[in-house]
Amino acid sequence: MPRIIIIVLLIGSLLAMLPPVIAAQARSTPNPNRPINLIQDMDLQAKFKAQSENDLFADKRSQRPQIQGTVARNEAYLDTHFNEGTVDGQWATTTPSQLPMNMARLQRGEERFNIYCTPCHGYSGAGDGAINQRALELVSNADGPVNGTVWVAAKSLHDATVTIQPIGQLFNTVTHGVRNMAGYGSQVPIEDRWAIVAYVRALQRSQNASIEDVPADKRGGL
Ligand code: HEC
Repeated sequence: MPRIIIIVLLIGSLLAMLPPVIAAQARSTPNPNRPINLIQDMDLQAKFKAQSENDLFADKRSQRPQIQGTVARNEAYLDTHFNEGTVDGQWATTTPSQLPMNMARLQRGEERFNIYCTPCHGYSGAGDGAINQRALELVSNADGPVNGTVWVAAKSLHDATVTIQPIGQLFNTVTHGVRNMAGYGSQVPIEDRWAIVAYVRALQRSQNASIEDVPADKRGGL
């Protein structure tokens, strides 16, 4: 092979290494310029980034607060019985008609109650859930408030002040909370909240039942 060809091949292969070396160097060096976008898609567009200023509004916030009275689609709260547990401004005494009461719904309520309520109120609703027991243990071992706070025990759902409450009021408690108890409106869907309070009613009845409440064939000879 003539020497000249060998020299050309050698120089050629050395030159061929230059582009990848330049590319590798460029990739590892920060560059303040915008990237060159051959295919633009939606990379470059007029927009406001989070927390940036917008001179269009007097308060200059680009993230706009919710407009008062906005109602999300399908969430018009016109049916107060269903949504708030009230009828004509009074606590509803029945479950809403669109949720017929049956065994499946009560069992759903039992399942949801066991998930959301038993940690504090206990499986029977007596207020003796695991969290309650643990808190009482901590409080009884301490000389004063624990971490600067005191424990308000979860109420027994068989307390007369609860059993006399209309079911709409129970629904309101589950939805919005009451005094020291937080609401579950944002976690538990409406239908499940109704199922839960229906189950609470069943629990209350179970703790104050007479033999007449038990179907004759299930009384076991009593
Ligand atoms: C984190 C603990 C906790 C959980 C979980 C909890 N509760 Fe409570 N609940 C409380 C406490 C504490 C009170 C008493 C509040 C007070 O008196 O300040 C209470 C009170 C109540 C009352 C009585 C309201 C009244 O008018 O006196 C009802 C009814 C009730 N809870 C139902 C429920 C239901 C149903 C659930 C499940 C969806 C639930 N709670 C989940 C802690 C809890």
